[in-house]
Amino acid sequence: MNAPFALPHALRDLARRSVPRYTSYPTAPHFTSAVTAEVHAEWLRRVARAGSPVSLYLHIPFCRTICNYCGCTTKASLRDEPIRAYAAVLHHEIALLAAHLGRAEVSRIHWGGGTPNILPPDCFEAIVRDLGDRFAFRPDMEHAVELDPRHVTPEGARALASLGVNRASLGVQTLDPAVQAAIGRVQPLPTVRAAFESLRSAGIEAINADLMYGLPFQDDDSVAATAELMLSLAPSRFAIFGYAHVPWMKTHQRLVDEAALPGPEERLSQAAVARRILEGGGYVEIGMDHFAHPDDPLSVAQAGGRLRRNFQGYTDDDAETLVGIGASSISRMPWGYAQNAADVPGWRRAIEEGRFAIARGKAFDGQDAMRADAIEAVLCRFEVDLAAVAARHSAPVSVFDEDVRRLRHFVNAGWVDVDGSRVSIRVHRHEIARLVASEFDAYLGHGGKHSVAV
Ligand SMILES: C[S@@+](CC[C@H](N)C(=O)[O-])C[C@H]1O[C@@H](n2cnc3c(N)ncnc32)[C@H](O)[C@@H]1O
Ligand code: SF4
Repeated sequence: MNAPFALPHALRDLARRSVPRYTSYPTAPHFTSAVTAEVHAEWLRRVARAGSPVSLYLHIPFCRTICNYCGCTTKASLRDEPIRAYAAVLHHEIALLAAHLGRAEVSRIHWGGGTPNILPPDCFEAIVRDLGDRFAFRPDMEHAVELDPRHVTPEGARALASLGVNRASLGVQTLDPAVQAAIGRVQPLPTVRAAFESLRSAGIEAINADLMYGLPFQDDDSVAATAELMLSLAPSRFAIFGYAHVPWMKTHQRLVDEAALPGPEERLSQAAVARRILEGGGYVEIGMDHFAHPDDPLSVAQAGGRLRRNFQGYTDDDAETLVGIGASSISRMPWGYAQNAADVPGWRRAIEEGRFAIARGKAFDGQDAMRADAIEAVLCRFEVDLAAVAARHSAPVSVFDEDVRRLRHFVNAGWVDVDGSRVSIRVHRHEIARLVASEFDAYLGHGGKHSVAV
């Protein structure tokens, strides 16, 4: 049995508040149609003129079946035809990008979804070769793919490795059979172990595992058992996500039995249990919800103060430009965000007409870039020097006066220190980081409904 988790009353109330995960700032609900395909094209040309390296994110919005809990942008397809048709459009989008970016240096490729390993192998290979022909891959480029362990095979793993894939993320979530049944994702330990073995035999040693807490019927013991079993597989990294229950946005989540969902205190306790076991297993805690081997690049980046946050969560990627490819993908440029149409037909139509499929975005204006800096610092380092942030954006530190005043309930509780212009979270870091970050969010309360803070 795990020791019960003592939760201060005030924290219990805070845990019920809903705030964004801040994988971008401003957050996606504040994107508008003011960012158009033309704006995106101009931003890309500016990146090309500056000769800056870029990271690429490719979105594959297909899965064989949809898991009840899924919050990702994806669709079920049992047939390969729609997936092949999608891959064909990706080639057109890549050509369009290359026409604007020139032969840009690529520092990272990340395939997300959905399930990128649903792509037929010849389609995956053709896209990697197309990218390699049009752009300049950096010799030390990280090439990462999100994979569903149920579809990893020894041949598939070898094919990925032969194309330069050197990091894989496996969606594990839970190894508890009762929870797996409740979330519509039956994937026993031998399936997960076989996926690890296939990847390692193919030479892909850097393997991340996604785990979740807050799922129906999960309790501390269930989370502990999964974490212990996963330690025996020794992944390079873990991401531990609290289940975001947003059935008003993801209607298939109505299949999740709400009566079986753990409450805020249980969620906090489960997160703490996972943290204790992974730290006990020698992993370094990264930000709020990642864990990495001490020699993993993410640990090295954190130790060197170079940890960043982007749409994939925590990253050591230092490229200022992330270019999204595929329906719903988001690009981040030094001047703002641009998001492709989320619906595949709309995205395809635009690309086939020879224009970018940008549906919305947000150009940084006013204090956006400065506040994004402050929020990233809070979430990556649990502290922020507001004077330094303000100075980087040529603003007086007094712009943050009102935000610091709003933090006083955390300060009075002894959880946050304000020392001159330096704000640091002292205790309950994981539990309150998003809440503290949200005090620097100038848009909060102006639209958007989010999942709970923990
Ligand atoms: C694109 S999936 C990973 C690859 C593959 N599709 C899979 O499921 O194995 C990304 C990850 O997001 C997380 N995730 C999905 N839905 C979520 C939700 N509603 N709340 C929190 N995390 C979620 C899961 O941990 C999942 O592994
Ligand atoms: S969790 Fe992964 S496999 Fe399941 S529906 Fe979502 S993207 Fe697809």
